[in-house]
Amino acid sequence: MAEPREIDLGSLRPRLERAFDFAAAQVRAAIARYPDFFPIYTEKGCWQHGGELWTDWCAGFHAGMMWLIALRTGDPWWRERAEHYSRLLEHRQHDRAVHDLGFLFLNTYLPWYRLTGDESLHQVLITAGRTLAMRFNPRGRYLCSFVAPESLFIDIMMNVPLIFSAARQTGDRALYDLAVAHCRTTERTLVRPDGSTAHEGIFDLTTGAFLRQSTHQGLRADSTWTRGLAWSLYGFGTVFTYTSDPTDLDVARRNADCFLARAPEGLVPPWDFDVPAGPDRIDDSSAAAIAASGLWDLAGLVAPTDPMRAQRYRDAALTILDSLCSDRYLAWSTPGWEGVLKHGVYHFHKKLGVDESVMWGDFFFLEAVDKVLRGGPSAVS
Ligand code: GLY
Repeated sequence: MAEPREIDLGSLRPRLERAFDFAAAQVRAAIARYPDFFPIYTEKGCWQHGGELWTDWCAGFHAGMMWLIALRTGDPWWRERAEHYSRLLEHRQHDRAVHDLGFLFLNTYLPWYRLTGDESLHQVLITAGRTLAMRFNPRGRYLCSFVAPESLFIDIMMNVPLIFSAARQTGDRALYDLAVAHCRTTERTLVRPDGSTAHEGIFDLTTGAFLRQSTHQGLRADSTWTRGLAWSLYGFGTVFTYTSDPTDLDVARRNADCFLARAPEGLVPPWDFDVPAGPDRIDDSSAAAIAASGLWDLAGLVAPTDPMRAQRYRDAALTILDSLCSDRYLAWSTPGWEGVLKHGVYHFHKKLGVDESVMWGDFFFLEAVDKVLRGGPSAVS
């Protein structure tokens, strides 16, 4: 078990500011080099390669980085690019092939709508939330993953806030109840007593009964894929802001404590905690970035009742960012590298984006840096 370090924010701040500027320069270069292209993962440090996507879920991260930069800098060029790239996603409000509509719209149309109050943007968010809700299986009481109707993914915890948001905007109680049901099923079937998580649950489509835990991107069904754990930590924390149900906060807290109990010194985990020591035990910097952003929020959520735990989570978020701002992870000293964070992993078994930059790692790193610099919650989601 590695303890979070006590980080002096005053000395970290200039490095976070430089990291933010570096990320903005990398996004600007990607826009110039690959106009209207939405990257997912690099190959040898380059975004555009025509390799397999597995699933098309990342466009909101590229556009979301533009929103983060636009909101921080106030630069109209970034605002125009953010709106342009967001507009390219609009048709996906009807996309029933993915479970990732939260990733697409919460980082793009939500900040855009909040800034403008424009009713047409509001309608896109509500439609996207309703489209995601169509994945609900009433027997099993879960939103199914993109791979099959009998499959539930832990990742969906990051997307279900889009349904909560649509329910709040419309006052649609049935939509709210469906989202709560998904969270309860996920907690019951994918979150283990020690706070670790399984990637996938498989259900009987006839009876709705839960059959077993499984995985695609983790090492094994019974292992802990660290990005899934980070999705759960961040997702249940966000859900608590909609439900105020202490159960949701407790799940996020148990996920966080599991992450901190098992992460190595510096708190950047391997892609799965159960990969044995050896050449396959490689870092996933994206899991660290998601955890940093989620832990920062969670610190704020537990602070009123548990200030010591809040301090520990804040220290952990800063420890992760301190690690990620080192030359090992940040690509600023690697000429020609097009991403922001090195040493991410997309899909180890399929050999997609292994030890590369991944779009969500860059987004959540920038989001966490921005939150810490502003001393508050996310500027986008
Ligand atoms: N499938 C989403 C992820 O790679 O985390």
